[in-house]
Amino acid sequence: MTTVTKAAPAACLIGWPAAHSRSPLIHHYWLRTLGIAGGYVIEAVPPDDLRDFVLRLSLRGFVGANVTIPHKEDVLALSTPDPRAKAVGAANTLWFADGELHSTNTDVEGFINNLDASAPGWDAAEEALVLGAGGASRAVVFGLRERGVRRIHLANRTLGRAQTLAQQFGPNVHPIGWDALDEVLPRAKLLVNTTSLGMHGQPGLEVDVARLPQSAVVSDLVYVPLITPLLAAAQARGLKTADGLGMLLHQAVRGFELWFGQRPRVTAELRALIEADLTKS
Ligand code: ATR
Repeated sequence: MTTVTKAAPAACLIGWPAAHSRSPLIHHYWLRTLGIAGGYVIEAVPPDDLRDFVLRLSLRGFVGANVTIPHKEDVLALSTPDPRAKAVGAANTLWFADGELHSTNTDVEGFINNLDASAPGWDAAEEALVLGAGGASRAVVFGLRERGVRRIHLANRTLGRAQTLAQQFGPNVHPIGWDALDEVLPRAKLLVNTTSLGMHGQPGLEVDVARLPQSAVVSDLVYVPLITPLLAAAQARGLKTADGLGMLLHQAVRGFELWFGQRPRVTAELRALIEADLTKS
């Protein structure tokens, strides 16, 4: 593990195993283009060491951190979570304020800000259909509720998981089985895939995009491949789309701002840089 001793502020990504992440590329791009002296490194922290690592984050010289698998839930008890982190049940960003370590979940704003940028006006949708009921789905459902979507149909292979999530998020969320998809699709002005279906190496996602209304917006959290079969089908029908890479870039904004004091922008140049990295591997 690194102990950062330089005067320049540095953040890190805490994960186990230290996954191949695009976050260093994103934050180094912003540090470079904004002319900020700072750093961002990956820290492989096994579960048994998480508590010690987080409690000594500042002593190690870090101004904050991103948190990824498998630590996103455990880090809540080691920090002061904001309402988003609490509602989602997981945090991905840590920072210090008033001598305390705070945590939030920036997937919520990553998802919402990407929709705002890619499909302005999407929030006229009164009914949305969200596929999946895991951690990513919780961030999506929280964001949609916050933005006033009245009815969120939540479809999951394991119905019980969707029901549990609906109980926590209240009466706007309606759990449905996978077999009810065809019935709900014609009413969904927004369709969001939060499952791993359609990801490289995973089974395909069988959703009949032709059943969606003509004004529907389609969003996929999967970003490998960049244009998933779901997004390709939606685009072929002329529907607006918001992709997973856009969400990945937008979720990184807040952490950078909290650690380095300037709000960075998601630019076409940054997107091209990450796209090039994704397509080379
Ligand atoms: P994440 O944090 O990325 O959301 P997760 O909590 O493991 O990951 O959730 C994965 C989601 O993808 C779940 O909704 C899961 O459905 P189940 O709850 O039924 O497991 C869904 N998923 C994964 N593989 C799937 C498959 N082959 N068919 C249908 N849904 C699948």
